[in-house]
Amino acid sequence: MANKITELFNIKYPIVQAGMVWNSGWRLASAASNAGVLGILGAGSMYPEVLREHIQKCQKATNKPFGVNVPMIYPNLEEIMDIIVEEGVKIVITSAGNPHTFTSWLKEKGITVVHVVSSVKFALKAQEAGVDAIVAEGFEAGGHNGREETTTLTLIPAVKEQIKIPLIAAGGIATGQAMMAAMVLGADGVQIGSRFVASEESSAHMDFKKYVVNSKEGDTHLTLKELAPVRMMKNKFYNDLQELYKTSPTKEQIKELLGRARTKLGMFEGDLDEGELEIGQVSAIIHDIKSVSEIVENLIKEFEEAKLKICSGQIF
Ligand SMILES: Cc1cc2nc3c(=O)[nH]c(=O)nc-3n(C[C@H](O)[C@H](O)[C@H](O)COP(=O)(O)O)c2cc1C
Repeated sequence: MANKITELFNIKYPIVQAGMVWNSGWRLASAASNAGVLGILGAGSMYPEVLREHIQKCQKATNKPFGVNVPMIYPNLEEIMDIIVEEGVKIVITSAGNPHTFTSWLKEKGITVVHVVSSVKFALKAQEAGVDAIVAEGFEAGGHNGREETTTLTLIPAVKEQIKIPLIAAGGIATGQAMMAAMVLGADGVQIGSRFVASEESSAHMDFKKYVVNSKEGDTHLTLKELAPVRMMKNKFYNDLQELYKTSPTKEQIKELLGRARTKLGMFEGDLDEGELEIGQVSAIIHDIKSVSEIVENLIKEFEEAKLKICSGQIF
């Protein structure tokens, strides 16, 4: 399955396992890389020295390429970037910030840089900053998201029309059929988050994984738009937040309710009532916790079946 993305990252399949706070440590990333996709460590929930440890463990667990996702809304960014360079990581995916801040610096060090965007405007800005590829993430996606609310189905062709560099689609992709659809729309590869949350190797708490596989359509919502929009599962914390919204709260009051470490509490420690449970709409069709290798095998099988269905005229 060779194309621009497999060549860019030197991987077998044009699939990126998304960097995800509290989910994507060295076990998930190395399993993904060993399965032929690009494994990504999520630096967003790691102190700098914890990241170094995960990079080193990942290097021992796989000889395949892997990268680090760096959301630019967290502190210690310079220290994190220095560790990435010192430890010899060759791929960085930045998100939630200005792509001009680190792209040239990382590229001077020989690192492949990808930036995550949620609109055409930011895709153009990332291309101008010199990134090697773009992840365009639709409104369906789990975790932090754009304010534009553009769905993947609309965003991918809109970005494709405007940019020249390789394009990776994200948001709502958990099957080989969806991967095929994204690539028909113009993507060169896909980034998958939620499906890998419900994997054996994800570092999420087992209770959160079970909550994900038992969830239904309509169970997630994009909220917290005043601070940084985030798609999460509806639970007690979510309901408390919606009650607060009825009182027209100030940003400070919202921040006060949010408090600290809600994502760790929910996704890592398994407090399903008080924690912030980030997940995408596609959780509605994720029904089991599987190993990463099974997930990847299924994705490829479904992708090939979809291709056959189209080519053999079963659809039209
Ligand atoms: C639990 C969770 C945590 C996430 N954390 C991050 C993160 O730290 N950095 C980032 O760029 N994106 C993050 N995302 C977004 C993913 O990287 C990815 O783009 C998204 O999950 C794709 O959509 P999907 O969930 O429908 O597969 C997160 C998503 C989830 C579900």
